[in-house]
Amino acid sequence: MHKLNPDEIKNDFPILSQNINGNRLAYLDNGATTQKPIQVIEAIYNYNTRSHGNPHRGAHQLSIRATEEYDSAKERVRKFINAKTIEEIVFTRNTTESLNLIAQSYGREFIKENDEIVLAISEHHSNILPWQRIAKEKKAILKYMYLNDDGRIEPEEIKNKITGKTKIVSIAHMSNVLGTIHPLEEIIEYAHKMGALVIVDGAQSTPHIKVDVQILDADFYVFSGHKMLAPMGIGVLYGKKEILESMPPYLMGGDMIEYVYEDYATFAPLPYKFEAGTQNVEGAVGLKAAIDYLERIGMDKIEDHEKALAEYALDKMFSIPYVNVQGPKDLDMRGGIISFTVDDAHPHDVSTILDSYGVAIRAGHHCAQPLMRYLNLPATSRVSFYLYNTKEDIDQFVEGLKNVRKWLGYGS
Ligand SMILES: Cc1ncc(COP(=O)(O)O)c(C=O)c1O
Repeated sequence: MHKLNPDEIKNDFPILSQNINGNRLAYLDNGATTQKPIQVIEAIYNYNTRSHGNPHRGAHQLSIRATEEYDSAKERVRKFINAKTIEEIVFTRNTTESLNLIAQSYGREFIKENDEIVLAISEHHSNILPWQRIAKEKKAILKYMYLNDDGRIEPEEIKNKITGKTKIVSIAHMSNVLGTIHPLEEIIEYAHKMGALVIVDGAQSTPHIKVDVQILDADFYVFSGHKMLAPMGIGVLYGKKEILESMPPYLMGGDMIEYVYEDYATFAPLPYKFEAGTQNVEGAVGLKAAIDYLERIGMDKIEDHEKALAEYALDKMFSIPYVNVQGPKDLDMRGGIISFTVDDAHPHDVSTILDSYGVAIRAGHHCAQPLMRYLNLPATSRVSFYLYNTKEDIDQFVEGLKNVRKWLGYGS
């Protein structure tokens, strides 16, 4: 199997060829959002210049074309994650909206007093706040699985926290802070044995590793288009058909109905029951083009490439005495996200100094304040890789990193 060629891939991404602060751009903030290849930009342009109309509403050609584009994007997503039918694929705005939809629809309907909802302490706020709200409303109990010193969840922790009272386990496939790939197979198998449903936040995994929802057997799997080469404003909620059928609609309005009477309504079949109002068709078109692009390169190759970059970067970072890497040391337990701190330097300073070297990284609490508190850190810096990143990007980052303390007056 040939490796992917990131230099060739980079040519498809016009934004990456510019200079920033007089340096070539090394874009290492892919955990926040990714850049778009020309193929995605062109697909959106073509849709807007040939096929734009309001789908599912008109008998005219443009509405029919928009409907075809929208539905074919849905089929593309189904195939990408191997869902059984497009009835299981709901388009949302993003991961956050998908998680809120599940909490508000499934949670409101089925969570009762004293039921338990189990999360990992490493969750993004968008997988915490919707559950805090439901737990408060229903007098349910929120529990957290904590991490060991290596940033991983131990098997005993899974068994300690998931019990016969657990109704929902909601966990990220890959931590957006530590890069940890959580042991989903074990968690899902055990949660199901205990009678709980499992929701997987795939925001950081779907763009980077092959996901097969049938093999995984998660009850819900959610992700955002903008972290996988697609535009912002399109997200996905996968749910098992029988579970989605049992859930009430989330938003009420146009397009999600069957019949409306003066004092009641019946609802459209899946997945449209959960898609109220005019949808983001150009986002769906962009997502389809993004998936085409990713699959043409090959998800296996993308995963291998990012692992190789992580290994290369970690090797260099471990050798700098004042750089402290967070998260698993073992490459098999992590993806291409590396959080770190630099002695005597605030992460925001690290990121600002690196920006002057043309290196784009993230700094802050990464929307994971409970994890930061648990790690006893106010913030971290984070680099995150994608298919277009090269060793040259990492060299540029490490070069900048070695100068951070000098800039702050520490000599080395
Ligand atoms: C693990 C994880 N979950 C959820 C989100 C929220 O994604 P969005 O802002 O696209 O809804 C993010 C965003 O960084 C994330 O990393």
